[in-house]
Amino acid sequence: MSVEPFDAVDVIRAKRDGAAVPEDALRWMVDAYTRGYVSDAQMASFAMAVFLRGMERDEIRVLTDAMIASGERMSFADLGKSTVDKHSTGGVGDKITLPLAPLVASFGVAVPQLSGRGLGHTGGTLDKLESIPGWRAALTNEEMFAQLRDIGPVICAAGSGLAPADKKLYALRDVTGTVEAIPLIASSIMSKKIAEGTDALVLDVKFGSGAFMQDIERARELARTMVALGNDSGVATTALLTDMNAPLGFAIGNANEVRESVEVLAGGGPRDVVELTVALAREMLGLAGVHDADVEGALADGSAMDMWRQMIQAQGGDPEGELPQPRETETVVADRDGIVARMDALPFGVAAWRLGAGRARAQDPVVHAAGIDLHVKPGDTVTTGQPLFTLLADDAARFARATDALTGAWDIADDAPAAQPIVRERITA
Ligand code: URA
Repeated sequence: MSVEPFDAVDVIRAKRDGAAVPEDALRWMVDAYTRGYVSDAQMASFAMAVFLRGMERDEIRVLTDAMIASGERMSFADLGKSTVDKHSTGGVGDKITLPLAPLVASFGVAVPQLSGRGLGHTGGTLDKLESIPGWRAALTNEEMFAQLRDIGPVICAAGSGLAPADKKLYALRDVTGTVEAIPLIASSIMSKKIAEGTDALVLDVKFGSGAFMQDIERARELARTMVALGNDSGVATTALLTDMNAPLGFAIGNANEVRESVEVLAGGGPRDVVELTVALAREMLGLAGVHDADVEGALADGSAMDMWRQMIQAQGGDPEGELPQPRETETVVADRDGIVARMDALPFGVAAWRLGAGRARAQDPVVHAAGIDLHVKPGDTVTTGQPLFTLLADDAARFARATDALTGAWDIADDAPAAQPIVRERITA
């Protein structure tokens, strides 16, 4: 039996007492946890110490590197095209990856979007795309490479070989109240993105009621930490800080979000979704060396839509296939005349989840037709009796708990809320 060079209790105590953990001890902790030598109880205690005490930049870099080293590292060096990816820290109604990947790829750039499924109130890109008949999330590495080379955009499930230490640690954080720690979020996201092997990465870091980070200062700190991790590892990385106080677009769910994404690809769609898609596309194309691209033109002239169709077909999906429709609906109407002053993203996300659009446990299925269709957005004028939003479900028994989640979630007032842009800041260092 080999002798372990460190003791988990010493590492936990060091962080508990506010010291920086030496590099070799931190690398060992991650490796020993992945091997099962360090227990879940010890790692949970360490994660809580990090949550309370934080980590220095250098410790975050080492933690990220140790998680990358726990699994495989992919490389797109032989593709003959530059690669650029986008990662969003997650929000309500955030379907941006769907129009964005084909839009950016329509300029000749490869877009490897290794995505996840939803857990809790934030939706998962794969769940949304699985509303499309026949569409397949699981690709082999060879299939992914071929699609990147021959078409350009790929949205698929991340293989289990990327950063397995993060997979184990993230599941543990989820059940021990240690998700919302900047060093842990930054290392978790960036270990997967760096291991994926993309040349460039744009981070959509959200703040507000529907985001991990409620306030913009914490979102900025998270963004700066991740941008530094990416650039230090040779991945050209920038971030946009974007508003997640209200749901994005009008659709919250799965099938309805695909429908809305197709509207954007057809040159229409909600103003906020288009604004964010275009801003992220410009940022991604800039990092890939494509400057002055006519991004709006590619939405208007059908080239992004063409790329979408090819991407969906390559993964077995029927882009013209009928999307599932809900069996039951319930519409909530305005109880007074006025202007919609507020629609809080978080309760709308929780309500959509309770309607069946999301899952409470990783093994649960989602109901693709479930969710919420908004009919109005903050700033819109309404009159008494006008529909505000419609709940969509397969079983009417779900409406009561969804409606509970929405208590106090919106306001109709006499005055319009101040109009704010979706993209608030750009972080490059
Ligand atoms: N997404 C991740 O992959 N990890 C986190 O810690 C938070 C969001």
